[in-house]
Amino acid sequence: MHQYISELSKHEGKEITLKGWVYNARFSKTNTFLELRDGSGYTQCVISQDAVNEEEFEAANKLTRESSLSVTGNVVKDERQLGGYELQVTSLNVYNYAKDFPIKVNESEHGVRHLADRRHLWLRSKRQWAILRVRNEIIMGIHEFFQKEGFLQTDSPIFTGNAAEGTTDLFGTDFFGEPAYLAQTGQLYGEAMCMAQGKIYTFGPTFRAEKSDTPRHLAEFWMIEPEMAFFDNEMNMDLIEKFTRHVVNRCLENNKLELEILERDTEKLATVNQDYPRVPYTDAIQILRGEKDVNGKNAITVQEEDLAAAKTGIEEKTKDIAERETAIKAGMKKGARKFNEAKIIALRSEIATLEEACRNIPKWIESAKNFKDGEDFGNSDETVLTRVFDAPVMVYNWPTKIKAFYMKEVEGDPDHVKGVDLLAPDGYGEIVGGSERETDIEILLQKIKDHNLPMEPFEWYLDLRRFGSVPHSGFGLGLERMVRWVCGIHHLRETIPFPRRYGRLLP
Ligand code: 4AD
Ligand code: MG
Repeated sequence: MHQYISELSKHEGKEITLKGWVYNARFSKTNTFLELRDGSGYTQCVISQDAVNEEEFEAANKLTRESSLSVTGNVVKDERQLGGYELQVTSLNVYNYAKDFPIKVNESEHGVRHLADRRHLWLRSKRQWAILRVRNEIIMGIHEFFQKEGFLQTDSPIFTGNAAEGTTDLFGTDFFGEPAYLAQTGQLYGEAMCMAQGKIYTFGPTFRAEKSDTPRHLAEFWMIEPEMAFFDNEMNMDLIEKFTRHVVNRCLENNKLELEILERDTEKLATVNQDYPRVPYTDAIQILRGEKDVNGKNAITVQEEDLAAAKTGIEEKTKDIAERETAIKAGMKKGARKFNEAKIIALRSEIATLEEACRNIPKWIESAKNFKDGEDFGNSDETVLTRVFDAPVMVYNWPTKIKAFYMKEVEGDPDHVKGVDLLAPDGYGEIVGGSERETDIEILLQKIKDHNLPMEPFEWYLDLRRFGSVPHSGFGLGLERMVRWVCGIHHLRETIPFPRRYGRLLP
C-alpha cells in the first residue's frame, strides 16, 4: 500500500511509501534532496547516504527531473516545507529515469509556443497543476450549488441542426449527408427541458469557430447553462449573483494552496461578497464615456490616474535598478549580490508590465470616450467600466441589434432586450451571458427572419411557445472564463487541459 502526499499529516512519525515523480532534485555529497510530486501534492524527500544502502544512494544520485520512483521513509514535521512535512527516506525504487525533460521548473523561462507544443508534459508543472485543481473545485461548486437549489442536471445534444448564437462562428459538419453544426450553446434544448422539469442546468462542451487568436476565446469550451421556468430577468440576475458568489467562495475556502502557488490576490476575489451593481446598458455607456460618475469615481479620470501611476512606477523602479547596479559594481558579498541581481530581474519584469499599461491605457481611454450607443463592449471597454465598481457588475437591457434572436424585448422599448452580462473586475470581463426569453411567438418569428435564420430547424422550438408558454430565463457561464478569473491568469489556454483554439489542434 502506498500513501499520498496530501495525507502526510495523518502519518506523522510513521514509515510510509510514496510513489511519484521528481519535480526537482538537489545533490550534496551525503544527501539528495528531492521535491517529489505525486499528483496530490509536493513534498521534500531527503535521501541520506547513511540511511539507504549504497546502490540506492547511487540510484538517487542519478535522478533527473520527472524520473519516476517509489520512496519509503519516515514522515517528519517540517514547518519550512510546503505542506509542512518531509520524508526521511529509508529505501527507494526507481521506475524510470527521464531523459532531458524539456520543461524547466521555472516555466516562465520558456516561450509560450514551446510550452503549448508540449501541453501533455506542461500539465505536470506546479502552476498547471494548481490551475486544474481550481477548475475541479469550480466544477464541484457548480454542481453543489444547482443541486442544492433544486435544479436537475441534464444534457443537450452536440450535433444540432440550427444556429442559436449567430451564424458567423458555426462549425459545420456532415451528419449522414445532412448539414449539421457543433453546438454553440445548449440553451434552446435547455428551454425545452425546463418546460418539463422546472429548473434545469446543462454542463457540456460548446463550439465556436472564432477565427481570432485572443486570450479569451477558445474554439471548444465548457458552458454551464441553467434555465428556469417562471423566472424573469430580475430573478435571473439574483441567481447569477448568488451562484458565482458561491463558487468563488468555495474556491477561496478549498484552494488556499493552489491560489498561493498562483500568487492570486484573494482579496480581489472576495469582492464577490459585496452586492453586485446592476447597470442598464444606457447608463453603462455613459459611465464608460466618463459622462456619469459612480460613487464619486469617473471612469476616464481613473484611467488617467492609473496611467500617471504607471509612469511614476517606471521612474521609481528604474532608479531603484540603477542604485542596485551601482552598489553591485562597488562590490558586495556573494549572498547580497545574488539577492540584488534577482531583485533587478523582478523589477525589470514589473517595469515591462507598467510599460504595457502605458501603451494600452491611452488606447482604452480613446475607445471609451468614443463609444457609440448600440455597440457591443470590447475587452478594454469592459476593463474601463468595471474599474469604477467594487464588485463584479451586471449590465442589462442591451441593444436588440447586437443580441441573439431569443431575448425578450423590454416592454414598450423594442430597441432593447432583457439580456444580462456579468463582467468580472480587473480586466477579466464577460463571464456570464444570459437573458429572459421571448415568449411572444409573433415576435420570435419576426426575429428569426431578421437574423436570416432558416425557419424549419426552429419549428420544434416554437412549439415551446405554442403549448403552455411561460416566462422563463437562463444564462450561460463559460467555465474557462471562470477559471481564468479565479486563478488570475491572462490566457484561456491555461484553463483547460488540452485547448482547442484558432491555430491549435495538437497535442
Ligand atoms: O454570451 P454567450 O454567447 O451566451 C450564450 O451562449 C447563451 N446561449 C447562454 C444562455 O443564456 N444559456 O456565451 C455564454 C458564456 C460567455 O459569457 C463566456 O463566458 C463564454 O460563454 N464564452 C466563451 N468562452 C470561451 N471561448 C469562447 N469563444 C466563448 N464564447 C462565449
Ligand atoms: Mg455573450
